[in-house]
Amino acid sequence: MKDNTSRSTATTALQDPIFPEGIEGCIGNTPLFKIKSLSDATGCEILAKAEFLNGAGNSPKDRVALSIINMAEADGLLTPYSGDTIYEGTVGSTGISLAAICRARGYLAHICMPDDQAKEKSDLLEKLGAEVERVRPAPIVDQNQFVNRARNRAAEHTADPNRRGRGIFADQFETQANWQAHFNGTGPEIYTQTGGRLDAFVTGAGTGGTISGVARFLKPRLPKLKVVLSDPQGSGLFNKVKYGVMFDPKEREGTRRRQQVDTIVEGIGINRVTSNFEAGRELIDDAVRVSDEQAMAMARWLVEKDGIFVGSSSAVNCVAAVKVALQMGPGHRIVTILCDSGMRHLSKFWARVGPIGGKDDVTLDDVLNAATKQNGLVEKPNQEWGV
Ligand SMILES: Cc1ncc(COP(=O)(O)O)c(C=O)c1O
Repeated sequence: MKDNTSRSTATTALQDPIFPEGIEGCIGNTPLFKIKSLSDATGCEILAKAEFLNGAGNSPKDRVALSIINMAEADGLLTPYSGDTIYEGTVGSTGISLAAICRARGYLAHICMPDDQAKEKSDLLEKLGAEVERVRPAPIVDQNQFVNRARNRAAEHTADPNRRGRGIFADQFETQANWQAHFNGTGPEIYTQTGGRLDAFVTGAGTGGTISGVARFLKPRLPKLKVVLSDPQGSGLFNKVKYGVMFDPKEREGTRRRQQVDTIVEGIGINRVTSNFEAGRELIDDAVRVSDEQAMAMARWLVEKDGIFVGSSSAVNCVAAVKVALQMGPGHRIVTILCDSGMRHLSKFWARVGPIGGKDDVTLDDVLNAATKQNGLVEKPNQEWGV
């Protein structure tokens, strides 16, 4: 019988096996696979880096968490089983990766996250034994904003003589360990897996670590490569890349909804420039904006056409990859990132997506025009929001 499993490495000649060392050994070397429906529909090869298959916390943040912990250990800041605790402000993914690796290494994790994020992420953190603080969404100038809260909690821990161990602030938005994890892992893997032939790399930015690290690795080797930011509605990064200013019309005083970034998408989109975004900003050639409706339509498409069940940021990436493919024309190769599974988004994003499997005549145009039809956000659909 034909073996269709591309990950199968079975051979008849037995060699001494090399086993991954612990759960950390299951991080990285994720598959890069072709999304068949999007490739067929665009005439391009649209390839997805399956970062949700990272083995500890099941997202690209495994690479970052490992890099942060390795760096702190190398600096002599952490002692296993001493009560040393890693504090982080995160919308979830980084916290989940940190919590898992902390367990494996003998540290504790304390995670501060906005209380408007999907509940399954904080439930999972608790099951990993992390302490979780869900805080009200607030601007970065507020000391109770989730990142500031984590930094302050780490300092309080270290200053308290009655507490075991010390507090270490992971600082994913600003630490160089973040983009370096992608420079050392994700970027080289994409380069090798594509045989050094790709025309565009498309991904969103939360901290900016992924886009900066991958761009810094690939651009010197592939000078013609286009690096494109995919940005959800409400995020200021699209305008920062296109026009050099951080402004979104929906951010005008009095028009903002409760969330910091006015979108149902979790994990990407931000309204400040972080050190990790800045590390690669000049290497980003273009930006594509994606509406919530387009992201939901794409999430549904990926399940219905390909059986791929992913979270909201992955759906945004795929919409942007399609827009880039249509701009570039057939025959190009585009790589994007599938960040996490839809299971982490069941109660929020997927609850809004609606029933699956009902229609089999959906076209890519329907996905790309979803914003135009549903919420009237678009005045010029073929410019910013459309193709
Ligand atoms: C689900 C998800 N997708 C994408 C990203 C963005 O990655 P980066 O922080 O490297 O920009 C994040 C960041 O936390 C995330 O949680």
